[in-house]
Amino acid sequence: MCGIVGYYGNKEAYPIIIKGLKRLEYRGYDSAGIALMNHSVRVYKCKGKVSELEEITKDKDISGNIGLGHTRWATHGEPSNVNAHPHVSMNSLFVVIHNGIIENYNRLRTELEAEDYIFKSETDTEVLANLIEYVYIKLNISPDEAVRIALTKVIGAYGILVVCNEHPDTIIAARKGSPLVIGKGHGEYFFASDATPIIEYTNSVIYLNDNDIAIVNKKGLHIRDIRNIEQTVKVQKIDIEIDAIEKGGFDHYMLKEIFEQPKAITDTCRGRLNYYDKTLKLGGLHQVIDALTKTERIIIVACGTSWHAGLVGEFLFEEFARIPVEVEYASEFRYRNPIINPGDVVIAISQSGETADTLAAIQLAKEHRALVLGICNVVGSSIPRETDAGVYTHAGPEIGVASTKAFTAQVTVLTMMAMLTGAKNKALTDKEHNALIDELALIPEKINSILAKAEEIKKIAEIYKDATNALYLGRGYLYPVALEGALKLKEISYIHAEGYPAAEMKHGPIALIDEKMPVIVLATVDKSYEKVVNNIQEVKARKGIVIAIVTEGDTTIRTMADHVIEVPYSDFALAPLLTVIPLQLLSYYIAVMRGCNVDQPRNLAKSVTVE
Ligand code: M6R
Repeated sequence: MCGIVGYYGNKEAYPIIIKGLKRLEYRGYDSAGIALMNHSVRVYKCKGKVSELEEITKDKDISGNIGLGHTRWATHGEPSNVNAHPHVSMNSLFVVIHNGIIENYNRLRTELEAEDYIFKSETDTEVLANLIEYVYIKLNISPDEAVRIALTKVIGAYGILVVCNEHPDTIIAARKGSPLVIGKGHGEYFFASDATPIIEYTNSVIYLNDNDIAIVNKKGLHIRDIRNIEQTVKVQKIDIEIDAIEKGGFDHYMLKEIFEQPKAITDTCRGRLNYYDKTLKLGGLHQVIDALTKTERIIIVACGTSWHAGLVGEFLFEEFARIPVEVEYASEFRYRNPIINPGDVVIAISQSGETADTLAAIQLAKEHRALVLGICNVVGSSIPRETDAGVYTHAGPEIGVASTKAFTAQVTVLTMMAMLTGAKNKALTDKEHNALIDELALIPEKINSILAKAEEIKKIAEIYKDATNALYLGRGYLYPVALEGALKLKEISYIHAEGYPAAEMKHGPIALIDEKMPVIVLATVDKSYEKVVNNIQEVKARKGIVIAIVTEGDTTIRTMADHVIEVPYSDFALAPLLTVIPLQLLSYYIAVMRGCNVDQPRNLAKSVTVE
């Protein structure tokens, strides 16, 4: 949450920072600000989006070859001009932008107030700016040393960029718990919360580690840690095409990402599944596959959509590998003293790789000596670096706040992991394994055929765009899909929606059903099909409206439901990969028709780096 961008070099910093902030707006968009340096610092900031910042800087001096920019997702203090970043210390010596939370900010603020510091904002970041300044003046040290010493007093998470008015040729960057990437160009450096603002200038990047402090000045880049120990600068090459972060002719990133799913799944399987000789390899698990095969328990930890993928993973591992699985909200798991044994395997799933609760769950699992694996989309993010081993989803950058292609790519990886484990421990026969490979090979094409029904789904959206409530029902593998469909609808269209196991409806939610209530039923062919048909009858008997997702050629449900959306037949274990697609499109079109900001829904941010 919050996006930070910085530039140090010979070019004008303003356009680079503004462009970078727009790329990071998915991380937060309630206020924006910029600081520009030549001989001294100028700060401009306002409530609202980066476009509003551009408006207020139209007639201002925006020159400078060094600068910092910020797009905010509010934690401490409401969105307002004064709470927007950058924050300037009381004597105007330091300017700070920050992503994260300073947990002990209240105590630090009281201590600084006792030293006559006066605060303008309600933010924890202003406390940090003043703390750095206080240390700098009191100890009469360099700005980077002041940052280092100030950070030793801080509890919490931060990714920060700092400049000092008395040393206008230096940028100081530091991180702990919040991401920060530095791009290295020719005589220039780019700083950002993730690589997307950097890739059009350079593909050489340095990922800061927790407790690193980077100093960029005329001498180049140096990294020390918070104990003042020099660190090696490790430059890595990243491989993201600029097209992957543009909208590519689509109205919204979300729609583009929905339509990218056939490619995302193909890319996720590439080099791993060999359809010709029916082999499956996951290089990232090579060292740990024996432990995974022999474990007596898998615990999956994740949040939001990734948690829903984890629920599908539970079915997959239990069915293919016969290993018991528990799926936990990372935020609950980290605080409830869970029983974790040394032989347990904990799988953390995350698109961003930066979710604070998931990272904390990983730490806890490591403390209990579990083997911790990651399933992650963002290469080089914190979760892959914190886990013992793992598998990347290769879905490409996901920028829309509502997760779509990350979900199907995560389920694809979980399917492959469960198949690999089941094949090794012989819970899955060769015949079953090979049949699944063939089925998986067909999924991208089947998704394409569902995407071709977008106009049909749009017409259904038009009818229900004014609904105030919706219920999503599914059984077995399709219960997590019901949860995911409900989450998609509520997060982007603000319609209240609930997902339920279909058979649970009669234990409560059935009371909600009336002639205005759309009930979206996942009813593709499997062993529970007849039961789900009964659930549809129960809804219809109470005058509810049924939108059913059915297998192609289903004639039974067509006679009962108000609308049917057909998806191709697949093995039931792979049905989540198909049935979720119409739900994503339905939510998307409803949200657009309601005039909602689909890519940046209110109150949300893409990467939840605070707990
Ligand atoms: O980056 P992560 O997968 O760890 O993010 C987890 C959730 O914050 C995320 O899935 C969130 O629920 C999305 N807005 C769902 O669309």
